[in-house]
Amino acid sequence: MKAIEIRNKYLNFFKNHGHSIIPSAPVIPENDPSVLFTTAGMQPLVPYLLGQKHPSGTRLTDFQKCVRTNDIDEVGDNRHLTYFEMLGNWSLGDYFKDESIAMSYEFLTKELGIPAEKLSVTCFAGDEDCGKDEVAYEAWKRAGIPDERIYFFGKDDNWWIAGEEGPCGPDTEMFYDTGKPKCSEECNPSCGCGKYVEIWNNVFMEFYKDKNGYSKLKQQNVDTGLGLERMTMLLQGKETPFEIELFAPVMDKLVELQKVDNIQSRRIVAEHLRSSMMIINDGGRPSNVDRGYILRRLLRRMTRHLNKLEIDLSKLPEVIDTSIEALKELYPELEQNKETIKTVIIEEKNKFVKTLQNGEREFEKVANKTKNSGKKVLDTEAVFNLYETYGFPPEMTEELAKEQGLEVDMSDYKKLFKEHQEKSRLGSEQKFKGGLASTGEMETKYHTATHLLNAALKVILGEHVHQKGSNITHERMRFDFSHGAKMTDEEKQKVEELVNSYIAQDIPVERLEMKKDEALALGAEAMFLDKYGDIVIVYKIGDISIELCGGPHVESTGKLGHFKIKKEEASSSGVRRIKAILE
Ligand code: ALA
Repeated sequence: MKAIEIRNKYLNFFKNHGHSIIPSAPVIPENDPSVLFTTAGMQPLVPYLLGQKHPSGTRLTDFQKCVRTNDIDEVGDNRHLTYFEMLGNWSLGDYFKDESIAMSYEFLTKELGIPAEKLSVTCFAGDEDCGKDEVAYEAWKRAGIPDERIYFFGKDDNWWIAGEEGPCGPDTEMFYDTGKPKCSEECNPSCGCGKYVEIWNNVFMEFYKDKNGYSKLKQQNVDTGLGLERMTMLLQGKETPFEIELFAPVMDKLVELQKVDNIQSRRIVAEHLRSSMMIINDGGRPSNVDRGYILRRLLRRMTRHLNKLEIDLSKLPEVIDTSIEALKELYPELEQNKETIKTVIIEEKNKFVKTLQNGEREFEKVANKTKNSGKKVLDTEAVFNLYETYGFPPEMTEELAKEQGLEVDMSDYKKLFKEHQEKSRLGSEQKFKGGLASTGEMETKYHTATHLLNAALKVILGEHVHQKGSNITHERMRFDFSHGAKMTDEEKQKVEELVNSYIAQDIPVERLEMKKDEALALGAEAMFLDKYGDIVIVYKIGDISIELCGGPHVESTGKLGHFKIKKEEASSSGVRRIKAILE
């Protein structure tokens, strides 16, 4: 079965069980600078898991494009991926454990045809926060899983939360038995030997965790996630995801172009290329911070491994074409945005080729310094600096060092690297912690101010103004909009005055649900039209503004305080950027 068939079967199955199919959110979360990437299907749904009404109902299903980069350095082995697709279904206070488990079992055995004896499951063993999950256990027994294939584990295995704070709960996980022999007497689904492969996770989200501990949510939710690539690999009897149709053509292409054989390098190129394309497609661009830095790392690591394979870098466009061809059935948008994707990747590759040359010069300095001081081993900090500043891979440093009779202490380097990695991992976990769940009072105010600014710009500058982007933190808002010229001081002042007059009028902010067509007929602003389902949420502010938006917003404009434009500048061609604050 191909990946696309599995995805379609999944969505149809849940549709037939009363679920609305909703579109995937972008891999780059919107209006949420506190999170690097969308890492799970539940992430864009946090407000609804917490109790807000979803316009498509209480049963939802989708495929979600996900990026998880904590294990970026593991890619190249036979299983790690930085991009993957998660199929998911949700109950927002609708069904709970019994129905969720019955549906999962039916889907796996009937729709996908997995023999029941290949399935093992795990349930939560219970602790001081939450009891043993007898309900899940009984449901699995009823479905037909015998006692010896039902396991109980604690929070490490059978409790799910995204980051440190947010909705969470005990989960039940489904495992596929590859038929390999047990690695030991104790071998079980929590063992990492590869006999058991996790295929689906159903989280029974009825708790909320914050720094004070656990509390009950308003409703009992179900949040599930099934990894598409992994399922495809298992159903096709393949050992690694790189052998399925989404990667195999790229892997073959690399074999055709390579002068040196190295399977890890081929996997890294194929995987990082796909991840980078998905991030670029959703608006990501390489830079030195946050998301942009991750994208840069992916593209540089890809380039480095193309070099390792001794592939002529002028052939990169062919590799990109092959990858898009393999993925376009799942993601037609890649084909549509092919030229942009190619330009971004090739520009970044060119930049990296330049830094490689600078790195070589820096290396010579380090090497000379080492020799002059009568040492043999390069200073590890300097090796690390070559990597961090010049993107200069330590393996390459080591190779060059050898040519001059010098050495790199790789184990010391790895230690230093791990320390830095740990720091950046803590950083990204920190990022997730914020998340949508904790959209604060100021962020909410800025959301509403964004609508007012959009409306005021239309009045002062003209109807050609449309939102091109938005980014909100608790300290400021940033708003990108279509407009061809720098704003004059007078225009800025008029916009500020107009927004402040909307605030002074204390106009109620109404949340409405309606059909997409109706909203458009009313003239609602919509930035990402394709992203919304048939029923949409619209925020209406008197006669001033009407926009498709997921919120959150204040109840009336009077709550906002005083609006002030701090800066107006070019963002890109034909797009201006305003930074503003509420004081
Ligand atoms: N949110 C759950 C996961 O990511 C389903 O595993």
